[in-house]
Amino acid sequence: MTEAVQVIQSEHAGIWRLMATIDQLNQSLAGADVAPDRDLFGAIFDYLQSYTDRMHHPKEDLFLFRALRERAPESHPVLDELQKEHAHGPAAMVRLRELLDHAGSGEANDRTAFRDALTTYVNNQREHIRKEETQVLPLAKDVLTEADWRVINEAFLTNDDPLFGQRVKAEFRDLHRRIANLAPAPMGLGLSAEPRSEPAAADRAAEAMLDIQDLSSHYGRIQALDGVELRVAPGELVALVGANGAGKTTLLRSISGLQPATGGAIRFRGQDITRVPAARRVRMGISQVPEGRQVFGPLSVEDNLRLGAFHRGRDKGVATDLERMFAMFPILEQKRKQPAGTLSGGQQQMLAMARALMARPSLLLLDEPSMGLAPLLVQEIFNAVADLKRQGITLFLVEQNAAAALAVADRGYVIETGRVVLSGAGSELLANEEVRKAYLGM
Ligand SMILES: Nc1ncnc2c1ncn2[C@@H]1O[C@H](COP(=O)(O)OP(=O)(O)O)[C@@H](O)[C@H]1O
Ligand SMILES: [Mg+2]
Repeated sequence: MTEAVQVIQSEHAGIWRLMATIDQLNQSLAGADVAPDRDLFGAIFDYLQSYTDRMHHPKEDLFLFRALRERAPESHPVLDELQKEHAHGPAAMVRLRELLDHAGSGEANDRTAFRDALTTYVNNQREHIRKEETQVLPLAKDVLTEADWRVINEAFLTNDDPLFGQRVKAEFRDLHRRIANLAPAPMGLGLSAEPRSEPAAADRAAEAMLDIQDLSSHYGRIQALDGVELRVAPGELVALVGANGAGKTTLLRSISGLQPATGGAIRFRGQDITRVPAARRVRMGISQVPEGRQVFGPLSVEDNLRLGAFHRGRDKGVATDLERMFAMFPILEQKRKQPAGTLSGGQQQMLAMARALMARPSLLLLDEPSMGLAPLLVQEIFNAVADLKRQGITLFLVEQNAAAALAVADRGYVIETGRVVLSGAGSELLANEEVRKAYLGM
């Protein structure tokens, strides 16, 4: 299989997942007859439009479809249909946005009209992808030559658009996960919503903000976490350090509910949240800054921040919090109207932190905030982390950069291949011989 086909199929998979998300959001509106959230749908539409109209469709039209037209005249009818649908994309989006606008302020039947249009749009997108996957790609694999594929591969693999370069693929993969995180409860990731109650254990953990017992997690047969024990007290800044692949991200994703536990328990403020869906954990006060920042590139800085407060609805505090974030990170205010994708790495990290803070978390989880940043910026990020602690936020920080993390942390844990092997005060671990050898290169 050629590289271009892989790219196209993974783009299709991304669009397909987004359609499933829109579908779920649409269904949650039907039951409640509430107005659709303009900011959330607006953000999804922006993203989708940028992605399909600006990147995916033009590449297909100009390279794949063009070559196929030359080699296989029998492909013309289906390509005509597909290209007509591509061309119609922007108009369909304009219509959806109009209906969204009306649904926000209008009557029940305006909301029904929006939901119906959304259903039609989702069905059309799915049908379109199905046609490409079942008719176009198999034919292309049969009839296109090596030389054709070289040209097509190059088009699909080189991305010189600053907003839609390689980065977009990672962003897109993460989009579904993040929207699931922001959206109302039914958007959870399929875990049971019922917390198990074990009063005795709840007592034990009463004074811990986060209490993890004997936690295991697997990817298929691969065990990524093996009996992890860890506690974070209110107001504490705790660092977890360990090498690449040790299980740090898996642990954070288990805490925020994006990765299921296969054993053990996670308690938050005394309540067992092991099976609580991710969306509800956000509302309970757990917010995660994901690895690699993962801001919405095409959206403005301000819209990224608003998205972080999505679950708070029309809460007036959102505007105040926006200003608080701008006070904490002045560079974000200067760039508030710019697409987040144009920010530097350090600025994107600040944006990712500020976005997580917009959810007003009591526990903030940070996954390798210093990754890929120049030393001076690393210092700035850790200063911001120390600031947050002074504001009373409880922080759990995961880092490969052990020296910087342990220097700011009250306490630290060392993780190796899914097991916690050491713990102690930050300064203690910094002075520990084994830690110095293994993680500090001393
Ligand atoms: N989606 C996945 N599928 C299979 N294995 C995975 C997946 N994600 C992580 N792993 C494996 O789980 C282990 C822990 O990974 P991770 O939590 O990402 O580590 P870290 O964040 O410490 O670098 C590694 O062995 C990694 O290869
Ligand atoms: Mg990681």
